[in-house]
Amino acid sequence: MNSSDIKKDFPILQNRKESYLDSAATTQKPKQVIDAIDEYYKNFNANPHRGAYSLSIEATQKYEETREKIAKFINAKHTEEIIFSKNATESLNLIAYSYGMENLKVDDEVVLSIMEHHSNLVPWQKVSKVTGCKLNYMYLNDNFEISDEEIEAKITDRTKIVGITHISNVLGTINDVKKIIKYAHKKGAIVVIDATQSIQHMKIDVQDLDADFIVFSGHKILAALGIGVLYGKKEILNKMTPFLMGGDMIEYVYEQNTTYAPLPNKFEAGTQNVEGVISLGAAIDYIETIGYDNIQRIEKEIVDYAMQELSKLDYLTLYVTPNRAHHSSVISFNIKGVHPHDVASILDANGVCVRSGNHCAQPLMRYLGIDSTCRASFYIYNTKEDVDNLVNALNKAYEMFKKYM
Ligand code: ALA
Repeated sequence: MNSSDIKKDFPILQNRKESYLDSAATTQKPKQVIDAIDEYYKNFNANPHRGAYSLSIEATQKYEETREKIAKFINAKHTEEIIFSKNATESLNLIAYSYGMENLKVDDEVVLSIMEHHSNLVPWQKVSKVTGCKLNYMYLNDNFEISDEEIEAKITDRTKIVGITHISNVLGTINDVKKIIKYAHKKGAIVVIDATQSIQHMKIDVQDLDADFIVFSGHKILAALGIGVLYGKKEILNKMTPFLMGGDMIEYVYEQNTTYAPLPNKFEAGTQNVEGVISLGAAIDYIETIGYDNIQRIEKEIVDYAMQELSKLDYLTLYVTPNRAHHSSVISFNIKGVHPHDVASILDANGVCVRSGNHCAQPLMRYLGIDSTCRASFYIYNTKEDVDNLVNALNKAYEMFKKYM
């Protein structure tokens, strides 16, 4: 099995000619996922949890079966530890509002890494402003990694929450979250893992990690847009009050008061996104059919090749750790002296899709002393030809701009 075989499962990659190198923003969808959504609307669509008729019951079953599938996929101990949300951003806001606002006070500390996406940073700023807790950051060494010394200097007895991305969406650095969780627990803190950039690439076992919370988005792991997951330890989730109020999250509603439904419903107000959940179930089936071993083998080959070819371009600055074992499938780069948006436009004109900008990580950009980068991100359907197209397009961009440098 190689990426050319896998590519055939993705209709858009057959229908369009571009080299798609923006999977860290959203992955393309295999036929199996598109068919599952189609099948749902043709045969099972109804409002779940609310109808006593067979169609609604079947929609509910499909929704709840997928919850079980996801619990197994990440090895959660209890199915009700899986909460469906809109995306990782909503999951992180839920944690910040329902846990952070209620448990933090003045002099408590939240520790984040400087490589957090805004969605694991801005909600904690709000918590800090409301509760008076302090926000501290773990910074990077010259290899774009967080050293053990930094972890031990920043996570202290005052730390109540550590928020850390498993893989940076800008640098591709793979953080040793198991080590961070162990250290944070020793200090009495709970840990929020943003697995948005990791779960599509590597096996996540929440019990092995001993994670308190883990979040991810469906659209970055082959599923539809608009579906996300929050995993939380049952004993913590049980103590939290809901963040969104409305239908289906209640037990009894009186004129002045409400009692909440048990897990997981109390965190899923409003009509559920059954389509998104079903697409996520199909995406997980697809990932399991290919297998993480194959995913990692294929990605390693393509990213090794990309690193080899991009390293030859002396007009490029690359923002990646030299430790390949700690580097995932994202390569950020700049052509010295040229704005990344201009580079991305030239790449687009040559049939190559990359993201350019600050990648929702402005504090990281400021820390690196830059405003923005171009970012090529790879997944299992990318081929060496995509890398060659990127390199050829970059050479054209350089030729075009070098007279202005
Ligand atoms: N968070 C997504 C990215 O890194 C959108 O591109």
